[in-house]
Amino acid sequence: MRTLTKLRNRTRHKTRSHVPGRPNDAQNVARVVTTQAETQANYDRIARFYEPLEGIWERRVRSAAVAALHVGPGESVLEIGSGPGYTLAEFGRMAGPNGVAVGIDLSSKMCRLAHRRLTSDSRTVGVVVQGDGGQLPFDDSRFDAAFMSFTLELFDTPQIAVVAAETYRILRPGGRITVVSLRKEDPAPLMQRGYEWGHSTFPKLLDCRPIRVGQALAEAGFVIEDDQRLSMWGLPVALVVGSKPPS
Ligand SMILES: C[S@@+](CC[C@H](N)C(=O)[O-])C[C@H]1O[C@@H](n2cnc3c(N)ncnc32)[C@H](O)[C@@H]1O
Repeated sequence: MRTLTKLRNRTRHKTRSHVPGRPNDAQNVARVVTTQAETQANYDRIARFYEPLEGIWERRVRSAAVAALHVGPGESVLEIGSGPGYTLAEFGRMAGPNGVAVGIDLSSKMCRLAHRRLTSDSRTVGVVVQGDGGQLPFDDSRFDAAFMSFTLELFDTPQIAVVAAETYRILRPGGRITVVSLRKEDPAPLMQRGYEWGHSTFPKLLDCRPIRVGQALAEAGFVIEDDQRLSMWGLPVALVVGSKPPS
């Protein structure tokens, strides 16, 4: 793995202050009360268990999302909330020696796992940065593609718009985004109602909740190319593909 010190050392933070469209609160999704420090500590704590367990829950839908991004040789890809780095390593292989896979994650332990995964594969070019998806330390239009898997629903409702706007900013015109997350539907199917009850009753334990991904991306300015409904143990999952309009 080539180390991309230029990316790692960059500290410029720039966040859009205005998101086009309706305010994000109009999404009518539950708020998240877990603080960023608590989220970081939680994922640091569960990182080594998360790695073997994630396959049971999420691998099938995540693989579909990876395929939907269509990363090609030479492309640069950013994954927000890269966790233990499974998909990051995959993107590294898809982008090949002339491309790059960059991960950003709040948890230092997750970053360490992802870094190890990237460095153990000689076919990948990539780097993992510890940081917040709401304040991306990357230049405007830096990436060809962006990816989030079971991460956007961890952000509080107003922050979802900030993350979507930040992702829009760092993508080049014509760049693509794929997000897979718990999906909020109306009327709520049984499993969604159960999950939302769990979140409202134990908000710090069940720290995420179903969200309206397509709406959030559209409000940030993305063109929605595909909005699929998948299911995970009966729980609705959204697989949304968007693109930043060519300038
Ligand atoms: C549920 S895990 C998903 C990990 C990986 N995307 C996957 O599908 O296996 C959520 C990840 O998002 C990270 N995360 C949570 N809040 C974040 C934030 N504000 N900025 C960046 N990463 C964050 C967590 O540390 C964790 O690694």
